[in-house]
Amino acid sequence: MAGNADRTERVRWFRQSRFGMFVHWGCHAVLGRGEQILSRDVMPLDEFMPLADAFKPRRDWAQRLADDAVNAGMKYVVLTTRHHDGYALFDSEHDDFNAAQTGPGRDLVAEYVDALRDAGLGVGFYYSLMNWRWRGYWDAAGYPDEVEAMVAQSHAQIRELMSNYGEIDLLWFDGGAPAGQRTPGQWAGDAVIEDKAEFWRAGEISAMVRGLQPGALLNNRSGLDGDFGTPEQRVEAQAEGRPWETCMTLNFAPGWGYLRHSLADKTPTEVLYHFVDAVRLGGNFLLNVGPRADGLIDEREQGVLRPIGEWMELHGEAIYGTEPEGIYPAGGHPQGAMFHYGMWTCKGDVGYFTFFYYPGEELIVSKIGPAIVSAELLTTGEQLHVEAISNSRMRITGLPAEPPGPLAPVMKVRFESPPHRTETCGAEWLSGGFR
Ligand code: GLC
Repeated sequence: MAGNADRTERVRWFRQSRFGMFVHWGCHAVLGRGEQILSRDVMPLDEFMPLADAFKPRRDWAQRLADDAVNAGMKYVVLTTRHHDGYALFDSEHDDFNAAQTGPGRDLVAEYVDALRDAGLGVGFYYSLMNWRWRGYWDAAGYPDEVEAMVAQSHAQIRELMSNYGEIDLLWFDGGAPAGQRTPGQWAGDAVIEDKAEFWRAGEISAMVRGLQPGALLNNRSGLDGDFGTPEQRVEAQAEGRPWETCMTLNFAPGWGYLRHSLADKTPTEVLYHFVDAVRLGGNFLLNVGPRADGLIDEREQGVLRPIGEWMELHGEAIYGTEPEGIYPAGGHPQGAMFHYGMWTCKGDVGYFTFFYYPGEELIVSKIGPAIVSAELLTTGEQLHVEAISNSRMRITGLPAEPPGPLAPVMKVRFESPPHRTETCGAEWLSGGFR
């Protein structure tokens, strides 16, 4: 978001934005087998590190990425400025394994920030606290000095990120598992990672970031709660009032970084379903892409972003700035009223209904009050006819017999006041007497 926003304003912006792009990118993209290739393939460093010299992104990668995000209807982007392999996409004085000093020969984070600002997108930095290239990460007892150096390096690089790129909207920590708890490619059993915050001295990091970037929002993966929750690959509402964001891959593998051959992808409808599900419960949706080594998003991922973008173009008002309000009360059952047909998102007196099960020409609105003033099929702009019937229901007619458009259609409904769920009780409804 533009300008000097304080944290309260930025929380408001974040919640209204609802939809962001997660970008997992680094020199691992040269191989196209995911972002964790170093440890999954138990690769010695002399096999892995030359990837950084072969990594040659196009000059216009950042503009193209920003365009893709805007076209998909996203309002912010979160880029892996450094993933677990320790390769920094920014120029760093604290580790020369970075984009400015290897193949690209440029500070890719600077390019990213400029392109996002030009496109009016919010700027997010993902940063992995752990760095797998330190022996001390794997063998803390054997290399205690390296453990210290690794933590110090993370602090120093976070300071660089928070000092050199102007105002940042989101700082997304990850990789908080302390040293000595993993073997390559897997967790070392059930080692407790509750001492995460202590291990990384996360309180110090947080105080430093708050000092340098008072308005930035921090996630909850440094071991501290931060400003927002990050359910991964699932939609899970958090405590009322606390911002949260579901992050999700486009495939089931799950692969976050570039996969040259992904054979288990989600369809646009599957992605849309999770997206609307997160939004209706009050969350954000951070949809991941893994650009190729040249920096472009490949056709397979574009094939999902494009239809989602077309859907957002028609139905964006059903997403941005909506709140769960009274239809999915916090702590209530997440299914809510009419769940078998689809999902409601709400904004003041207006309810938007995204159909995941299309009823045909008429829809019965049940267990929701107050009365409906008017209804329109947002997808086509057609006005619909509304009629009150028994059991406090509304019959909506005039819908096309077949679902319009390739993805879920949306109906926009104006109620007399903000909609809420109503409870049927007793047996009166069997004879039509429910009020
Ligand atoms: C998982 C993956 C990691 C990815 C993260 C994003 O933890 O292992 O590679 O960056 O999800 O939330």
